[in-house]
Amino acid sequence: MTLLLLLLLPGLCTAQFNPNVACGKTSIVHLFEWRWEDIAEECERYLGPNGFGGVQISPPNEHLIVTNPYRPWWERYQPISYKICSRSGDEEQFTDMVTRCNNVGVYIYVDAVINHMCGAGVGKGSSSTCGSTYDTNLSSFPNVPYSRLDFNDDKCKTTSGNIEDYQDADQVRSCRLVNLLDLALEKDYVRNKVTDYLNKLIDIGVAGFRIDASKHMWPGDMQAIVGRLNNLNTQWFPNGSRPFIFQEVIDMGGEGISAYEYSGIGRVTEFKYGGKLGTVMRKWNGEKMAYLKNWGEGWGFLPSDRALVFVDNHDNQRGHGAGGASILTFFDARLYKMAVGFMLAHPYGFPRVMSSFSWPRSFVEGKDINDWIGPPSYGNGSTKAITINEDTTCGNGWVCEHRWRQINNMAIFRNVANGQALTNWWDNAENQVAFGRGNVGFIVFNNDNRDMDVTLNTGLPAGTYCDVISGQKEGSRCTGKQITVSSAGTAHFKIRSSDDDPFVAIHINAKL
Ligand SMILES: *[C@@H]1O[C@H](CO)[C@@H](O)[C@H](O)[C@H]1NC(C)=O
Ligand SMILES: *[C@@H]1O[C@H](CO)[C@@H](O)[C@H](O)[C@H]1NC(C)=O
Ligand SMILES: *[C@@H]1O[C@H](CO)[C@@H](O)[C@H](O)[C@H]1NC(C)=O
Repeated sequence: MTLLLLLLLPGLCTAQFNPNVACGKTSIVHLFEWRWEDIAEECERYLGPNGFGGVQISPPNEHLIVTNPYRPWWERYQPISYKICSRSGDEEQFTDMVTRCNNVGVYIYVDAVINHMCGAGVGKGSSSTCGSTYDTNLSSFPNVPYSRLDFNDDKCKTTSGNIEDYQDADQVRSCRLVNLLDLALEKDYVRNKVTDYLNKLIDIGVAGFRIDASKHMWPGDMQAIVGRLNNLNTQWFPNGSRPFIFQEVIDMGGEGISAYEYSGIGRVTEFKYGGKLGTVMRKWNGEKMAYLKNWGEGWGFLPSDRALVFVDNHDNQRGHGAGGASILTFFDARLYKMAVGFMLAHPYGFPRVMSSFSWPRSFVEGKDINDWIGPPSYGNGSTKAITINEDTTCGNGWVCEHRWRQINNMAIFRNVANGQALTNWWDNAENQVAFGRGNVGFIVFNNDNRDMDVTLNTGLPAGTYCDVISGQKEGSRCTGKQITVSSAGTAHFKIRSSDDDPFVAIHINAKL
């Protein structure tokens, strides 16, 4: 039996569905808009020692510099060339980051923008992060090079040239997404340019890709590109490892394109996850935590081994993309910590933790007019470094949700619970719920407006455990609440609805 398992394991590792995280790691964090120098530091000083498996980085290729509005975050979704030269740093800094992160077992996942180049109305110029020229009137990008022949304009049937109807799969894939010049990915030449770029990153040592705007590319084209990717660099990964692929497909149901068209190619971002979880935690539409008992496929989500899950992402945390107002973010810190805690405790999907920069939200008729604001930066547009405060939080406008004690401790909880089944579900038919992971971890939530005072079967060995939400285990003591598990495996939980964080989590590595 053991021998058979050993023989089967390498097979599992070669698939593009495997996140390639180091043994025992179970999540990645999106360090949105961070500089490469800062990510290298963060891998060494925090992510490695604290159990995170990898980092999704912002697009590393050369992109447009937008000055009106001034340096929005979305300029990075307007490629000018595939030179590794972006707002986050140059190729030397990128290579240094990948090497240093890999060396501490924290792998890099690149946000790959391959559906399109910059906006069609940009015109002629060289306002780009490495000074490469472009002329959108001619669809010309000499530093790739791409010309008019490499774009989809002749295929799009709408009068505007833009996607007008999301029920029409042909439009969604052949027309321009918000006027971005749409690449003809069925062309061998274009496929080669794209795969040359991605393979260069693989050879430097990245572990996989988030494929931006996947819904706007034909599954056959995606499949062809993924098939041409190199195996991962054997300096850090087992021989024959395939890059981890997770495709951005926004499928909330009811459109002309389904996430299932892509789930055979790689994993898919499950956007229903954060939208629904936000609705439950906010108790909108009559939702309650008790209904989470069959969370996952039971809620109409993708199969667990095909889903990349998240509470919020860089788009929907500011009202872009899908999910709407129910999406929880760092702005709703109390509920957000519970939602991220639930995601990390629950076995469904492979999770990505969001790490944001802050911005001054300003709602006008329900829309945040500051949804465009880019990362903390100086007047000359260069991104500010991450600074670390004495209490380990971040400064300079960086939120660093991944450093919040509750969130980091739950990332560790997930590592401890890796491979364990969901057990001992309990709920009060309202918003008090609890569940375990095998006999290694247990979590209890009180999202009701009344105090909770219950004795539950945890499935854990008898002993005294440190709650990793109100504190953690330090040496031979708990800095927060202590929970005693009896020889029968039961424990008493008292969670006031007014507690700072109305949830408690314990696991065997936080046992005294
Ligand atoms: C690009 O075309 C627009 C009209 O479509 C025109 O106003 C503009 O001058 C052109 N720019 C260049 C650089 O040719
Ligand atoms: C990797 O595997 C291939 C094919 O099985 C083999 O030819 C090659 O020598 C291996 N490389 C290393 C570094 O083991
Ligand atoms: C931008 O300004 C900052 C702060 O004054 C400075 O440290 C940095 O070197 C400048 N960057 C460039 C590219 O001029």
